[in-house]
Amino acid sequence: MKEMNEIVLPFPDDFHAHVRQDQAMIGYVQDLASQFGRALIMPNTVPPMVSAKQIAEYKQEILAAAKEVNPDFKPLMTFKLKSGITEAELLAMKAEGVVAGKYYPAGVTTNSEDGVSDFESVFPVIALMEKMGIVLCVHGEEPGVFCLDREAVFADKVEFLANKFPKLKIVFEHLSSAKAVALVKRLSSNVAATITVHHLLMSLDGVIGDALRPHHFCKPLPKRPEDLAALREAAFSGDPKFFLGTDSAPHSREKKETCCGAAGVYSAAVALPVLVREFLAAGAIEKLSDFVGGFGADFYGLPRPEKTIKLVREPWVVPQEIHGVVPLAASETLEWKLA
Ligand code: NCD
Ligand code: ZN
Repeated sequence: MKEMNEIVLPFPDDFHAHVRQDQAMIGYVQDLASQFGRALIMPNTVPPMVSAKQIAEYKQEILAAAKEVNPDFKPLMTFKLKSGITEAELLAMKAEGVVAGKYYPAGVTTNSEDGVSDFESVFPVIALMEKMGIVLCVHGEEPGVFCLDREAVFADKVEFLANKFPKLKIVFEHLSSAKAVALVKRLSSNVAATITVHHLLMSLDGVIGDALRPHHFCKPLPKRPEDLAALREAAFSGDPKFFLGTDSAPHSREKKETCCGAAGVYSAAVALPVLVREFLAAGAIEKLSDFVGGFGADFYGLPRPEKTIKLVREPWVVPQEIHGVVPLAASETLEWKLA
């Protein structure tokens, strides 16, 4: 068989990305916008994104930062779910380009101390979201439970929400367990899931198996080999319920290499070359287009990407550090490169 040296993909969408704030944001946005046409921007900033005015300003800052590398970049905005948000506020947010609200259980991840602590308290807002066609994105981990069981326990709440709000579109974010994969498959077509690049690469062994690798530490934790296998099967199978959300989450080297390190893997800059490698290795390269530039758009009711992006087989070494952050696959040689 002739070796493939070029791959053309739809200009991809990232349905889960963190770009932070202030000066640091510029580099993160540019890494993201040079690889993706659209990205769902997470609201766990400090302070969190909870109002139309803030979100409008944040969007303008992102657009300004992206302009140099991709003037067509489209940030898809989100707000952080909390109780008491009114219909008028949701309408105002929608008018500023908000497509989803993000449910963070209190304390489960970076900047989530102000997340939801009383499950039922957010039902009225979720009911409004259902009515208005705003997607609910869920960080599905139950606080306080043993770390490897948090997702499996919270999965019951996702199922409960899917039954209670049958017209609500729910995205179970950054899946990490076979149980959650099975649940998403079983629930209606209104429930889908994102899968990150790093959760397709490693089990918990990749974080603490041989050595402590702080740059692989993220929430939710990668889990058992069976969980990894279930995630890979879901991503490579071409099931429209599973699509890419990188959860690219930059933290400075200092914040990761310390006694109480921050959770998050910085993957935006390497996402596509790594995905090409993995889909090729799995014999599923023909499924990659939909995973990165099809199923997510369909689920969110957005047009599929019109532009394309080309990768060429041309080995390059991933930098040790990008904008002060150690990226996924740092110092590794990747065979595929964006043309
Ligand atoms: C994310 C971050 O750093 O903002 N961290 C992570 O480990 N994934 C938050 C999140 O998505 O959980
Ligand atoms: Zn995230």
